[in-house]
Amino acid sequence: MNTPITVALSKGRILKDTLPLLAHAGITLKDDPFTSRKLIFETSREDVNVIVIRAADVPTFVENGAADLGVAGKDVLMEYGGNGLYEPLDLNIARCRLMTAGRKGWVDQGTRLRIATKYVETARRYYAARGVQVEIVKLYGSMELAPLVGLADCIVDLVDTGNTLKANGLVPMETIAEISSRLIINKASMKMKHNKVKRLVELLSDAVENQRAGG
Ligand code: ATP
Ligand code: PRP
Repeated sequence: MNTPITVALSKGRILKDTLPLLAHAGITLKDDPFTSRKLIFETSREDVNVIVIRAADVPTFVENGAADLGVAGKDVLMEYGGNGLYEPLDLNIARCRLMTAGRKGWVDQGTRLRIATKYVETARRYYAARGVQVEIVKLYGSMELAPLVGLADCIVDLVDTGNTLKANGLVPMETIAEISSRLIINKASMKMKHNKVKRLVELLSDAVENQRAGG
């Protein structure tokens, strides 16, 4: 039987950066995912489908077998936690850093820090490992605003060019982790659809190497 494989991607930069890798592996979407309202896409390979979901939902879909494979940022995977997923390939896309940042000139008074972030678990672990007492303020976006309006002392967020921090009078402080997107695989799919999954991983690995070499 030609059991299909489902790949979970998220709208935005992961989709934009993953499509060329899939194309190199001979997989193109039949509809334009940037304009279509569809959530499931057929591809040029009848045994491969792509679903498009929110970035933070990709590990949930893959771990639960709703998708066989997925592409997720390391930031999302660190926050998701657990060991229910295989993570065999660094796709070397959507590269940035997870950092702490604060207002220019801000000085730690040694009191309990208020940290605004959507990376609640990661931030908690990071400060706990340093013995720093923090109160986490959970936000869903625009973290850079929090120190400006007195909602937090510092933030934990992604930094790439640093332009967003700079535009808001913030400065990067410590790097928590180097981030890139990873291929993740459902553990049962790895067993049950082994040959297909393995072949796709090989093709994507080639695509990454080709891109690294400037192709
Ligand atoms: P959603 O729109 O579903 O809430 P999101 O805003 O996190 O999710 P994106 O901004 O597309 O979605 O980010 C997806 C992933 O891309 C992140 O998890 C991270 O790994 C990476 N990323 C985010 N911002 C940047 C950036 N400025 N530069 C490079 N990579 C980034
Ligand atoms: C991400 C991240 C930062 C910004 C960092 O936001 O949350 O705000 O990029 O990038 P920079 O250092 O190059 O400025 P994004 O652009 O994805 O917007 P979002 O808030 O919609 O996620």
